[in-house]
Amino acid sequence: MVDQEFLADVLEGLGRHPKQLQSKYFYDERGSQLFDRIARLPEYYLTRTEQAIMEAHIEEIAEQIGPGVMLIEFGSGSSTKTRILLDHLEAPVAYVPLDISAAHLLKTVDMLKGAYPEIEILPLVADFTKHFELPDSKKTRSHAAVYFPGSTIGNFTPEEVQHTFVRIADVLGPQGGLLIGIDLQKTPAVIEAAYNDSQGVTAEFNLNLLHRVNRDLDANFDVEQFRHKAVYEETLARVEIFVVSVCDQRVTIADRHFKFAANEHVLTEYSHK
Ligand code: TRP
Repeated sequence: MVDQEFLADVLEGLGRHPKQLQSKYFYDERGSQLFDRIARLPEYYLTRTEQAIMEAHIEEIAEQIGPGVMLIEFGSGSSTKTRILLDHLEAPVAYVPLDISAAHLLKTVDMLKGAYPEIEILPLVADFTKHFELPDSKKTRSHAAVYFPGSTIGNFTPEEVQHTFVRIADVLGPQGGLLIGIDLQKTPAVIEAAYNDSQGVTAEFNLNLLHRVNRDLDANFDVEQFRHKAVYEETLARVEIFVVSVCDQRVTIADRHFKFAANEHVLTEYSHK
């Protein structure tokens, strides 16, 4: 069955000038696997830097979060950094991994349930850019905190950032906490390499979005006729990531036809620093 929301978003995005596709759709099963590979690339400094910061400051972080928390992780993926937290928090009541990719989430949950039998694991397949409710835990929580790592907030526009913070404050209530990872500006060459790795994993991740549209929405992108592009716009402090049409071509999605000119750029993501 065709996901009508996905279809509507793709048709709307490709109807724009310039064209765009929403980055939350990167994370189907294949996309989530490719992202795990990105996280381990030598050029992709973000994951390992954030992990090192977590390790260096975990006592202080755990103290700030406090005892009896319900911890909600946004975009939990494979939850490697989460384990550092769960190992150090004082008597956490529940862990709520929230991810848009069900397959990826369920694998993580099995692993965590085995490793932390005393913490209630309450997975939530959800889009955190939309409204969602916190699940009830068996034990009463003293408060809740959102863990939002990976500089994912950088993938949002300034307006989306504002909405997201308002939503987080709403969901958590007065005693809530937020632990967030945000990448900083640095030498452009270092940033560009992180989004143009030499093994081509990032290119594959980006272009997988077109494969996904073909598969899930019965479209006919000739993916070979598109290429990956990522440039750091220093004045805007953001990486702009595109799929670029190699030639003049036409793509059909659900009886709609879209023309792509040679060198036409389709925006797939911003990564603000
Ligand atoms: N949140 C990640 C980031 O901004 C997402 C990401 C990493 C990404 N590499 C990418 C998105 C390549 C698109 C293409 O770093």
